[in-house]
Amino acid sequence: MKILVVGGGGREHAIIKKLSESKYHPELICAPGNAGIASLAECVNVKATDIQGIVSLAQERKVDLVFVAPDDPLMLGAVDRLNERGIRAFGPKQNAAIIEGSKAFSKELMKKYSIPTADYETFSDADEALAYIRSKNSYPAVIKADGLALGKGVIIAQDYAEAEKAVNDIMRDKVFGESGNKVVIEEFLTGHEVSVLAFCDGQTVVPMVSAQDHKRAFDGDKGLNTGGMGAFSPSRYYTEDVAKQTYDRIIRPTVDALIKEGRPFKGVIYFGLMLTKDGPKVIEYNARFGDPETQAVLPRLKTDFIDIINAVIDGALDKINIEWSDDAAACIVLASGGYPVAYEKGKKIEGLSSVPKDVYVYHAGTKFDGDDVVTSGGRVLGVTAKGETLEKALEKAYAAVGKIHFDKMFYRRDIGKK
Ligand code: AMP
Ligand code: GLY
Repeated sequence: MKILVVGGGGREHAIIKKLSESKYHPELICAPGNAGIASLAECVNVKATDIQGIVSLAQERKVDLVFVAPDDPLMLGAVDRLNERGIRAFGPKQNAAIIEGSKAFSKELMKKYSIPTADYETFSDADEALAYIRSKNSYPAVIKADGLALGKGVIIAQDYAEAEKAVNDIMRDKVFGESGNKVVIEEFLTGHEVSVLAFCDGQTVVPMVSAQDHKRAFDGDKGLNTGGMGAFSPSRYYTEDVAKQTYDRIIRPTVDALIKEGRPFKGVIYFGLMLTKDGPKVIEYNARFGDPETQAVLPRLKTDFIDIINAVIDGALDKINIEWSDDAAACIVLASGGYPVAYEKGKKIEGLSSVPKDVYVYHAGTKFDGDDVVTSGGRVLGVTAKGETLEKALEKAYAAVGKIHFDKMFYRRDIGKK
């Protein structure tokens, strides 16, 4: 069996690691991959957003399956284009990936089907958006660019001046390009934030174990929003009772809504939740595995990943039983100084071979420079460990972090502490 994985970050490394442990012993190809992925898969230099290039690679190499992991190729219709050529692919089609691709769409869907989420209004005109913010006069105000924005399109404004700047940046200066043609302005929710990923075959939906992400750059949730500075699983707040409420009020209704809208979802739906005093509410949907949640969730999966992937594609999720280990898992992200704004690349990474065997280092932004592994992105590595308890997993992961070094490396010291 030959599998092509599209993408080249920590999430894709975690997906490939899990695939490499399958009883089917697949031959793995990754486009474009990174220096860590190269130890498990052949990396081919085709960009994840080069849909024609991905289709051609899948055809040339006669792969049995393409796993499309990142958001942008999904939104560009990678799965549709692959299926048109008769190639099996894991991930939602474009018309279902829109739950992540347009916040205006997903908010409208939730309103129509009474799925709990923050109250909101959508605007295509900056003056109207600002007039609305003034009339509400309630802060923090949450301002979101409609489309994809590398995880940076959400601004929590503390006062009118910040809100005005956000609306001007997004809608007039188009700092996120076309993603800023519309904005969603919504109510600020408070509570614990939990990420729940779920496998969905179009009809049946099976939630995975819960996780928590750490979006801010620095300890104590200070600094800018990032792609995620660390994650752990499970979340202590996602109790059985909360999980049942979430399934009944959010997860099942979302999948049913997409069926009714003629957009059946096959792949992984990511539910970003706020556990408010009025119950769980949706902050966002993603149409894929989360990063870095995947690095903390997939190591706990016991069932063969390829059996699940096939069940999702074939609409047979109701026929398999998905099992998880009781261990907790934690992933600490090591980032380049200056991330998420400006940072240097090409720093030599040292100490990777001193990491103990029971800790796994997922590569996010790395590449080879001769025989050296060097940094090539903002988020560089995800140091991951499992343990009987979250405390034990964190202890192991942080001990391994101490062995690794590169110039201007930084990381949060409070992953899993809240
Ligand atoms: P998103 O890109 O939609 O996940 O938003 C990024 C982060 O902004 C989320 O992880 C939350 O921490 C925060 N956020 C988004 N929407 C809200 C909201 N309505 N209320 C409070 N915080 C929010
Ligand atoms: N960890 C958040 C995301 O993947 O969007």
